[in-house]
Amino acid sequence: MTQDEMKKAVAQAALDRILPHLEEDTILGIGTGSTANLFIDALAAHKTRFDGAVASSQASADRLKAHGIPVYDLNSVSNLPFYIDGADEFDPHLNLIKGGGAALTREKIVAAVSKEFICIVDQTKQVEVLGNFPLPVEVIPMARSYVARELVKLGGDPEYREGVVTDNGNVILDVFNLKIVDPKALEQQINMLTGVVTNGLFAHRGANVILMGTPQGVQEIT
Ligand code: 5RP
Repeated sequence: MTQDEMKKAVAQAALDRILPHLEEDTILGIGTGSTANLFIDALAAHKTRFDGAVASSQASADRLKAHGIPVYDLNSVSNLPFYIDGADEFDPHLNLIKGGGAALTREKIVAAVSKEFICIVDQTKQVEVLGNFPLPVEVIPMARSYVARELVKLGGDPEYREGVVTDNGNVILDVFNLKIVDPKALEQQINMLTGVVTNGLFAHRGANVILMGTPQGVQEIT
């Protein structure tokens, strides 16, 4: 089974999980990335069964709209029963690293509003300790070098993601060589650095459930 087939299987599993809960006024929180894209494509066949979606990136908003699914501004929505999104890494406590697609800040905001975060991943994302995947940090452009120096003091090796500007007009530092034994503490510590918008650790608000694609089928981890 290829990685793409595992991603398709978890996208379908997430859809099967939410379909019985869809009502005509339901608005869904939708994430960003290749797995979220597969979910959007599968969701499109059921677009008449719910109201619309809030997207965590312009790319996902464009994809939803191309399928004819209405996209709402989060400021006009107070209730999101589900947030469906992928991740770059997850640990046994459902802490995540996200932001490989540079959408971490909006992902974190939509996840914060949502009741249930259903994280859809293939088995290559599973780790014991977070940090093999470089931790993305969204930074106000003028603070890039300052924040990079501070991240070195925290034990990481930050690299500027050249040529990438986030949907919020900011830049990304990818922090290599972190062994993240206390994700909540590090999430907070990095967010305290002046100039940081947010970082890709989803520990204070992790996933509620992980659906993991494997060659043997989809596993549910809670
Ligand atoms: C984007 C993300 C994605 O969820 C993460 O990068 C996983 O992407 P994919 O589903 O393509 O493997 O956090 O910012």
